[in-house]
Amino acid sequence: MATTIYQGLEVLYTRQQIAERVAEMGTQITIDLKGEKLVMIGVLKGAAPFLADLSRAIQADATFDFVATSSYGKEQRSSGAVKLIKDLDHSIEGKNVLVVEDILDTGLTLSYLRKLFLQQRPKSLRIATLLDKPSRRIEKIEADYVGFSIPNLFVIGYGMDYAERYRNLPDICIMPPGHPE
Ligand code: PRP
Repeated sequence: MATTIYQGLEVLYTRQQIAERVAEMGTQITIDLKGEKLVMIGVLKGAAPFLADLSRAIQADATFDFVATSSYGKEQRSSGAVKLIKDLDHSIEGKNVLVVEDILDTGLTLSYLRKLFLQQRPKSLRIATLLDKPSRRIEKIEADYVGFSIPNLFVIGYGMDYAERYRNLPDICIMPPGHPE
């Protein structure tokens, strides 16, 4: 990687590995949909690149919607405090819903969102996450589609940030402790 933004960063998954896995996930989701329509809900901001790529790997009549949750620090979040700061634009009642996340960590965000979305009585609700950190789980929740299951590493790139930076890295990298930022 010649780009200076990569200095000191180890690549965990290359753009090619990501693209291959996203294509596989898209194929499986297409099969499971059985020709029905889909509403894809992206959880801002980290899920944006994944949703963009995954949606193009799914062959279905699909629409997009987005939510955003509070950006409380992880420590505060561990207390269970998740707040909705941007709601859905359209009702999902009776729809097939796929919630799209970049990473499933403690599970607090997705547990909160799942409960919220189920109140609208969708026809089905499934979760796709590119990364899963099962060792960090606080809430009992699993995704229906997981790209990669990873240990407890601080990952950035492909939507994931450190202090809002690095989201535009095409590869997923590990932020080492003491990185100069
Ligand atoms: C990240 C990620 C998930 C959440 C997962 O979002 O996109 O939404 O954390 O963590 P959890 O399982 O412990 O709840 P973040 O709040 O960092 O916002 P961002 O997507 O804007 O980076």
